[in-house]
Amino acid sequence: MSNSEPQRQATVADSQAITVQTEHGLYIDPQALSAHLPALSYRDNELYIEDVSVSGLAKQYDTPCYVYSKQAILDVYQAYSDSFASLEHQICYAVKANSNLAVLGILAQAGAGFDIVSRGELMRVLAAGGQAGRVVYSGVGKTYSDIEFALQQGIGCFNVESISELSLINEVADQLDTPAPISLRVNPDVDAKTHPYISTGLKDNKFGIAHEQALDVYAQAAAMSHIEIVGIDCHIGSQLTEVAPFVAALDKVIELVQALADQGITLKHVDLGGGLGVRYIDESPVSIADFADALLPKLTELGLKVFFEPGRSMVANAGVLLTRVDVLKPTEHKNFAIVDAAMNDLIRPALYQAEMAVIPQQLPNGGMQADDTKTWDIVGAICETGDFLAKDRVLALAEGDILAITGAGAYGFTMSSNYNSRPRASEVMVAQSQQQLIRKRETIEDLYRDEMRWQDQ
Ligand code: LLP
Repeated sequence: MSNSEPQRQATVADSQAITVQTEHGLYIDPQALSAHLPALSYRDNELYIEDVSVSGLAKQYDTPCYVYSKQAILDVYQAYSDSFASLEHQICYAVKANSNLAVLGILAQAGAGFDIVSRGELMRVLAAGGQAGRVVYSGVGKTYSDIEFALQQGIGCFNVESISELSLINEVADQLDTPAPISLRVNPDVDAKTHPYISTGLKDNKFGIAHEQALDVYAQAAAMSHIEIVGIDCHIGSQLTEVAPFVAALDKVIELVQALADQGITLKHVDLGGGLGVRYIDESPVSIADFADALLPKLTELGLKVFFEPGRSMVANAGVLLTRVDVLKPTEHKNFAIVDAAMNDLIRPALYQAEMAVIPQQLPNGGMQADDTKTWDIVGAICETGDFLAKDRVLALAEGDILAITGAGAYGFTMSSNYNSRPRASEVMVAQSQQQLIRKRETIEDLYRDEMRWQDQ
């Protein structure tokens, strides 16, 4: 299966194509890809994240290991801030994308607010030095005690997803004798044109309050003793690459803001959620600046403070998952490279058929199109056929090689599990030439420390 000169069918119209679809599989040019990932570079054929060598990181922290670039995170935060500088705004980073305390602390220090969906996420934000007053609390299943805790901490706003939740918030706020700031999360019924599992703004989805019901629910909210209406919210989905669905959702929201004003209900802010996509391999998502340009005229006219809840776009391309090739298993039909990361570490390929790039720590002499390339499925060691990290990738591999899976800073570690009794990976942050362990690798004993053996009585 030696891969002769791949046919050049570039899928990105850049000066240097990132991907070439060969007859055997997908060839990703690691150097061209790294040119699009600001934190990554090849220096003398060795992969670096900021100024730290990936080979050194793999030796020091072992694999699998998530590594994040501090600068890459801050740069995206700054891009959001700069792009919306003409408006009063608050960037509420969606904690679910990557909830490591170091990531949250860096963003809190930069001035970010946070979007959370659980009490656990709120506690993380507080532990990282964030302020509850800059937190918006989304999610469809808030309980009495979740609401109580959030109110006691001085939460910035509840993004309310149902009438039942609204009544519960009013009840808890009454008990605590404090007003509860709320937005209604409206479901604008806009097609985000993304993977069905990460589309949230359609009538069929469980999220939000239907657009047609929203005015009525706001009227109910206004009549509740301890509800303070502060805003309106929507979030239509994730990994959106086009701006049109955001504009369509904003139009629907503006319609409601005006209808509410006619009813005497005035709002302080509009929250447009998260969802801006990223380039994993060859996607061409709208840039943050163009996203802002498309929304700014309407937002400026509206005159309200604007909130965003970006998750993926803030951290995905700030992170890589490092993994080692343990076993090469060529078969008659397929070549499998069994690596030490698996679907428990990174479930996105298995769950969403997500295509993420896999690039080598060391470029082979002669470049990636040398004769020793083969087409590999990069798989984990878990007993599931769905345990793959990438399929049909043209790579030159040897056992012991270190690979980096890019775009792994978002929904990587946070979605990891202990399936097959596998300890979760370590996490490391780098900043220029500094590196720091920000979560130590679990031990196997950690996995059953809190379990008890059954005792016959
Ligand atoms: N706000 C709300 C209410 C959300 O539900 C989400 C994501 C966000 C903000 C952040 O969206 P982002 O900017 O990250 O697109 N695990 C999936 C993505 C699930 C997104 C869920 N909600 C994945 O790995 O693709």
